[in-house]
Amino acid sequence: MVGVVAGLRGQVEGDRQARLALGEVGAVELVGLPRGRVTGVGPHHPRAVRLGQTVRHGRIVPVPIAARAAGPGAGASRGRTRGRPRRVGSWAVPEPLHERARTSLRLRALDLRDRVGRRSDRLVPPRRLDFVGHSDFVDTGDEFLRHFRELGALARDERVLDVGCGIGRMARPLAGYLSPKGSYDGFDVNPEGIAWCRDRYAGRPNFRFELVDLFNRRYNPAGTLSAETFAFPYADACFDLVIATSVMTHLLESETDRYLGEIGRVLAPGGRLLATWFLLDDLSRRAIADGRAGLPFLDPEQRVAVVSDDLPEEAVAYDRGWVMEAFRRHGLELASIHPGTWRGDDDGCSFQDIVVGTKT
Ligand SMILES: C[S@@+](CC[C@H](N)C(=O)[O-])C[C@H]1O[C@@H](n2cnc3c(N)ncnc32)[C@H](O)[C@@H]1O
Repeated sequence: MVGVVAGLRGQVEGDRQARLALGEVGAVELVGLPRGRVTGVGPHHPRAVRLGQTVRHGRIVPVPIAARAAGPGAGASRGRTRGRPRRVGSWAVPEPLHERARTSLRLRALDLRDRVGRRSDRLVPPRRLDFVGHSDFVDTGDEFLRHFRELGALARDERVLDVGCGIGRMARPLAGYLSPKGSYDGFDVNPEGIAWCRDRYAGRPNFRFELVDLFNRRYNPAGTLSAETFAFPYADACFDLVIATSVMTHLLESETDRYLGEIGRVLAPGGRLLATWFLLDDLSRRAIADGRAGLPFLDPEQRVAVVSDDLPEEAVAYDRGWVMEAFRRHGLELASIHPGTWRGDDDGCSFQDIVVGTKT
């Protein structure tokens, strides 16, 4: 029995996990389809389920990792792991066709119900289109708006770039916060997400969305362009805040390095980067070794660790020292680090680690 707390209202929806089917086929099957509402988790639960978390048997736990067949063009991590047996996240199993059909029906029924509920908000996508995460779309967006304001010092009339904007999870709260003088630009590799956002934000000229056909084995396996040589389609020094939520956690080392360089280029002096990471340091490495960490990264003593050799982009962790050094190289000064609960510690600011840097 699996369910996800559907937000701060404490409503528990056993079926919500089923929506992962579209983008997370393996994950849906491996957790099993719930047959009724979860009763073990309720409004008394101390906090909402966050980015990368779900609820199993009444406890908040990390979302299981889906196993996938390797796509074309094996990348850097593949080379790194050559010569040893391939491993994948231990929860992975394939999903039968009839379960997918059932899941699709459930999602459509939930979408129907949502039309009369809180998700009738025009800036909240139907569940069957939402591919970006496992937490509640609205609550996660609202949580991160707080981080953008409190940790990233975002003011209402500033210019924001959302790297890997998905289907507008961060755009929605920003639409309610930024003034007409402020602006939002987002780009992503997912055509459905960008098309949906362009349609829904059509009446807001200061909200713009770009599609870029970059290869990512996890999110765009048929992509034709390489992220490691990609130049962001924006002028130098034209943003005040760059956000990258749950994006560096899906990019390989050379891509992440390139993106930090591009972020350094497009940030105005004094501009900030707020990005989420799985940072490898003594504490997180120990948590992984002890089995307390939210994700079972393989070889965490390495500079870069993944949870699946077959699908490295499923989740990528970086050595904290490497990230700090890359920041320096690209003209970003570390402002603050906010450890996440993925380290097995309940006190985290979010599930992933949040790192804020300032353009010098
Ligand atoms: C976990 S989702 C997070 C989406 C969004 N940042 C959010 O928090 O809702 C990861 C996103 O990264 C995007 N992505 C993957 N590779 C990318 C790349 N090379 N450049 C930009 N976005 C990428 C995916 O399409 C997906 O939308």
